Amino acid sequence: METFGAALSEAESCLTRAGVFCGHGYESIYDEAVALVLGAAGLPPAQTRAILAEPFPVEASARLRDLLRGRCEARQPVAYLLGEAWLAGLCFTCDTRALVPRSPIAQVVAEGCQPWWGELASPNTIVDLCCGGGSLGIIASHVFPSATVLLSDIDSAALSLAQENIQRCAPLGRVHCVQGHLLTLLASNSADLILANPPYVSISEMAHLPPEYLHEPRGALQADEEGVALAIALLQDAARVLSNVGLLLLEVGESVATLETRLPRVPFTWIDLPEGGAGVAAVSAQELRDWIAAGAL
Ligand SMILES: C[S@@+](CC[C@H](N)C(=O)[O-])C[C@H]1O[C@@H](n2cnc3c(N)ncnc32)[C@H](O)[C@@H]1O
Repeated sequence: METFGAALSEAESCLTRAGVFCGHGYESIYDEAVALVLGAAGLPPAQTRAILAEPFPVEASARLRDLLRGRCEARQPVAYLLGEAWLAGLCFTCDTRALVPRSPIAQVVAEGCQPWWGELASPNTIVDLCCGGGSLGIIASHVFPSATVLLSDIDSAALSLAQENIQRCAPLGRVHCVQGHLLTLLASNSADLILANPPYVSISEMAHLPPEYLHEPRGALQADEEGVALAIALLQDAARVLSNVGLLLLEVGESVATLETRLPRVPFTWIDLPEGGAGVAAVSAQELRDWIAAGAL
């Protein structure tokens, strides 16, 4: 591996031969190879093509071999191997205490939740529910600079990572952690914006996930028999917790059809996600209250 270009070709071939699954923040084998090569050399992701002709350091070659072994043989996601993950322009500490950050809710938040939030003043209180390592709430704290943000999860290990990410990349004093089951600890009318990416993989789907997912906490992925019980419980309680102008962004991924079957009278609005991903609903507090009043939820 004499140059970065040669290292990149070798990494790409290795990942292709191993047939790795790219579902953890990188869209292609090429993108994963770039991340591993730059990570091995200790360089940030923003590089020009000029680097391809530059010599690849010997110590980076040894590190790249280790990383490729972890990726190709153990099937660890790139973000766990590198110990960090980028989302919406921020770099988060990332390890097996929490899911690899990749929620498409991030792209909606990065756009100020428009057009769903509308022309109202920015949200005062934001809850990142089922926060894992805290990426969504921390992104929101940058997009809405006057908001107080609560990162909430049932898992203390995930929250310890979220706390580290607050220290690493959140504005001082505006983002806090709380441990609890869904919204149960939150007072009525206490949140303007709830971002929620709960577990939504059904028990039967869990058995068919590519091996990369087995490195993530099971409790971050697996829901109930059908996959949507937590999402439904959260929809029901969000009507209580959201303020009158409130908005819920809820991710259920591939479980859209199951959720619609379980709640056939709820006219969900599914957000078009130009940067990829699927199954994110935008639901206003008023809609939730109307659906509950009509007996649809
Ligand atoms: C799909 S992960 C989402 C993590 C993070 N929001 C992200 O997008 O990367 C789901 C998270 O929900 C948490 N969780 C599971 N059951 C929960 C419950 N009943 N109440 C609160 N959090 C829960 C898990 O610990 C996990 O961190």
